Amino acid sequence: MSIGQNDVIGHFSARSATYDRSSSWCTDQDLGGLLLDITRPDSGDRVLDVACGTGLVSRLYHGRVAEVVGVDITREMAEQARPHLNRLVIAPAEKLPFDDDEFDLVVCRQGIQFMDLPDAVAEMVRVVKPGGRVVVVNLCAYGDADREEYFEVLRLRNPVRRHFFLPEDLRTLMGEAGCSEVGLHEYVSVEDIDVWSDNGAIEESRREAIRDVYRQASEAFRSLHAVQEVDGRFVDRMLFVIAEGRKP
Ligand SMILES: C[S@@+](CC[C@H](N)C(=O)[O-])C[C@H]1O[C@@H](n2cnc3c(N)ncnc32)[C@H](O)[C@@H]1O
Repeated sequence: MSIGQNDVIGHFSARSATYDRSSSWCTDQDLGGLLLDITRPDSGDRVLDVACGTGLVSRLYHGRVAEVVGVDITREMAEQARPHLNRLVIAPAEKLPFDDDEFDLVVCRQGIQFMDLPDAVAEMVRVVKPGGRVVVVNLCAYGDADREEYFEVLRLRNPVRRHFFLPEDLRTLMGEAGCSEVGLHEYVSVEDIDVWSDNGAIEESRREAIRDVYRQASEAFRSLHAVQEVDGRFVDRMLFVIAEGRKP
């Protein structure tokens, strides 16, 4: 069955009430601080937050820059972002309703896995000014040794996810979309799997299947993710990659 935008909207509408506490990375101040360090926003900047969700990235920039615009397809998520935005637009990332070269910085955290690629990233490049930056933040597998098991966990946790990445995939994607000088930064987020899988949009059978992947995980997966098991609960160290590119 192919996954469409209505499936994505249905999934995130179901999660909207509890989204902000569905992963420790959502409100992780160190991850937010790293994003600010990497993007170094200027007070005159116009920033676009693509797939803004409830505004957890927008709020990092709001008040520091001239304007923050949020765009998302799920109204129930995005309405929560309004206090952290100068403007909210409900639209798909694949067809951004903005002119060419409008923004100084475009950020998209945990959004591209649901989008048409590379089209959506090419749209981000289109709307950023020449010399401006596009920054994509995404959970990635560490490498070939953990990809199969980790992608299975991600698929179980979010049935509307369409894409899965290794760090270098993000560099390739940004390049294909028209970015130059793509740099990759890494951040490790510690997630209690029982909390992380309780996202309000999947059945208990999927959560149990996720626990099974951890119970049966290979040595390579356990080692790369530094998996800890305490009283039957698993803790995973998940890899975030922040890919930063420049529009030529
Ligand atoms: C995992 S949440 C991330 C929210 C926010 N960026 C954050 O870091 O907390 C994914 C968001 O992507 C949005 N989304 C998914 N596909 C989209 C698309 N094609 N265009 C715009 N937004 C999309 C969903 O509606 C949801 O709000």
